[in-house]
Amino acid sequence: MPLARDGQPRKANPTTALRGIERNRRIDVGRRKERMSEAVRPILQSALDERGAAPESDAGFLWDFWYPALRSGEVRGNQLKTAMLLEVPLVLGRNAQGKAFAMRDSCPHRGIPLSYGRFDGKAVECSYHGWKFEACSGQCVEIPSLTSQDKLKVERIFAGHYPCEERDGYFWVYMNSWAPVTTRGGAAERREEKDNAEAQSAQRLAERRGGESAAAPTLATFSEKYRITHLECDLPSHVDQGIIGLMDPAHGPFVHQSWYWRSRHSIHEKEKKFEPIPNGFRMSPHTPSSNSAPYRMLKKYTGEPVTTTIDFVLPNIRTEEIRSGKLWFSSRATVTPVRRDLCRIDFVAAWNLLLPVWIFRMFAEKFLRQDQETMIQQAEGLKHNPRLMLIDDADRPAKWYFGLKAGLLESRRTGAAMVHPMPGPITLHWRS
Ligand code: FES
Ligand SMILES: [Fe+2]
Repeated sequence: MPLARDGQPRKANPTTALRGIERNRRIDVGRRKERMSEAVRPILQSALDERGAAPESDAGFLWDFWYPALRSGEVRGNQLKTAMLLEVPLVLGRNAQGKAFAMRDSCPHRGIPLSYGRFDGKAVECSYHGWKFEACSGQCVEIPSLTSQDKLKVERIFAGHYPCEERDGYFWVYMNSWAPVTTRGGAAERREEKDNAEAQSAQRLAERRGGESAAAPTLATFSEKYRITHLECDLPSHVDQGIIGLMDPAHGPFVHQSWYWRSRHSIHEKEKKFEPIPNGFRMSPHTPSSNSAPYRMLKKYTGEPVTTTIDFVLPNIRTEEIRSGKLWFSSRATVTPVRRDLCRIDFVAAWNLLLPVWIFRMFAEKFLRQDQETMIQQAEGLKHNPRLMLIDDADRPAKWYFGLKAGLLESRRTGAAMVHPMPGPITLHWRS
């Protein structure tokens, strides 16, 4: 059964970008939960052991970053939509001024999901006892059961809420590690208030830090007019497996065999230069693989050299820019943790080439489907908790990913500057 963004089973939707694969999906995530996380843990743990650090959370998520929660087009009018990020249930929408908001999908009174309630463009009204919360701040504005004798300060109660911005056709949510958790019992208000103050301070901190987390990511574009398209694909895996799958160069000739791209006989030795960048690494600008037909065509068309730059930055973002003369193609793939056993690839691409969106989608969907089918098969193996290995040089980017993650967690823990796993620029060799 396919899964909705909140991780719940949903009916097959004929408009789903990758509807063809749904019949093949056997994502029995509920029961796989524990085993999947155990399968991933040894890899992360070995990276952490080298650095002597401990994981921030045993689910292996990176908090205090922006993650895409929903496509913008999914929210209309005063609709409330649900999503899950890092195992946090969210309710999202847009207020009357068009401002996006994300609240924890849980009423601070008794925990019923706020998404069962109503939204009037300003406040979300809980379906259980009618408490109302201003959508963007989460601040309580009304408790219908109170009488004039009651002393409770309504405005000091907050529902959990997260910074939320719309960009590139997504609702992005800043997953704050200090954001309020659902509260129970008599001390609820006090705890909510304290948690809310912490959430705000974390947000301020993020804004001051600049760069890494001040604003939601934006796709780079290089001309006024361009085409843009979005694709998505669920993977029954821990986010770490999704990410190292995304940056893995050696699976191409086996998983993505096709006449127009490459065959397994086209394998040849590659040499690629990499350099460290803040929170990530860059495959230095280079002329792309000569055995790929689209690149050959592009070069023929513009008569100018084609260069490609590929970046990976924490927590989960891979961007690629291809330029040739005035023509350009820019894409971003993010692998977002929904739960510890489920992640989602969100892929957005823009270009000013004479390439119709439908043709691009046809190829891109096929690519994603091939990756998805492989990861579904991999999940079958991972549930038996095998020992895994990363080899040089083809898996070196994966090693850097785990190194970056361990380095970031360690620097957050100690407050010291982050140690980058790459000492400097380096050239890798592999066959693909
Ligand atoms: S549970 Fe939401 S108002 Fe009581
Ligand atoms: Fe792939």
